[in-house]
Amino acid sequence: MYKIAVIPGDGIGKEVMDAAIHVLDNTGLNFKYEYGEAGDECLDNCGIALPEETIKLAKKSDSVLFGAAGESAADVIVKLRQVLDLYANLRPVKSYPQTKSLFNDIDFMIVRENTEGMYVGLESESDEGAIAERIITAKASKRICDYAFKYAQKTGRTKVTGVHKANVLKITDGLFKEKFYEISEKYGDIEAEDYYVDATAMYLLTRPQSFEVIVTTNLFGDILSDEGAGIVGGLGLIPSANIGDNGALFEPVHGSAPDIAGKQIANPIAMILSAKMMLEHLNELEEAKKIDEAILTVLKNKESLTPDLGGNSTTNDLAKAIAKLL
Ligand code: NAI
Ligand code: MG
Repeated sequence: MYKIAVIPGDGIGKEVMDAAIHVLDNTGLNFKYEYGEAGDECLDNCGIALPEETIKLAKKSDSVLFGAAGESAADVIVKLRQVLDLYANLRPVKSYPQTKSLFNDIDFMIVRENTEGMYVGLESESDEGAIAERIITAKASKRICDYAFKYAQKTGRTKVTGVHKANVLKITDGLFKEKFYEISEKYGDIEAEDYYVDATAMYLLTRPQSFEVIVTTNLFGDILSDEGAGIVGGLGLIPSANIGDNGALFEPVHGSAPDIAGKQIANPIAMILSAKMMLEHLNELEEAKKIDEAILTVLKNKESLTPDLGGNSTTNDLAKAIAKLL
């Protein structure tokens, strides 16, 4: 029995969460869901976007499922990542049939450092203009690179690519690159290669199939993963995981989509794939694989698709079609 904290949030967050829970309920696994409030509605109702109660709930659960927040997203999701120390941000880039993917055989994972780099929030004004500090530590670099190699090993991948700009950012990215190769020595069976981030941005467009696992610092990971979402075509399909040593949170990349909220037309696949990533994290690999295969089948058969995928089905119908195949 897994204890899951469920935080649907605002807008389509609620609709896609219901859909994902329906799919989880049709696996052979046992879950105890505990619901927590957060987001714009919560702010209106209780005066705070992320109540202490919800943080407590997240901390004591085996995993957290998060839908989406609205305007309060920064106060909710960024804060949750910090208080739970979720240092690894995983965003899979994979082509699915019946989508606007540039190629049909893309399948790699971006492992983004989630706690430091350009996003430490150390900005200040100076006499001439403004300064942003970029912090790279040996500890966080080793931790994220080790995560990437372990991930590669666990998932049968053969190569990890370290991405940096060490020719210009000689000290900070020099350190990241050094720790990348230091950690790689522990994983003799996994190939290690490194590229500059600008070249990587081009290779993602010209030969994305050559990547298996990319590990990089915070800002570069943020940019490259949005590029990744672009090359496989579609916000409704992209899940993500935020992982730490004492907790994990799974969420679709999209927001609360107020333009389509309440209409039952949101694509639930990004949320369902996020739940699938949760199962992988809980080492329920067989059930995770079944969900992936069910999604593939539904897409291939053009069965019960939501409008963004060219169909006219509802959020719940698409979820039911996936659940039926489990
Ligand atoms: P958004 O991701 O909510 O929507 C962008 C566009 O994609 C919209 O046209 C929407 O209808 C469409 N879309 C998104 N998810 C979809 C799905 N599952 N199926 C079909 N179409 C989908 O981003 P936007 O519009 O920039 O932000 C809306 C609100 O969401 C804002 O208040 C923003 O702060 C919040 N937000 C929250 C995030 C989070 O909680 N992690 C992340 C991004 C935005
Ligand atoms: Mg981003």
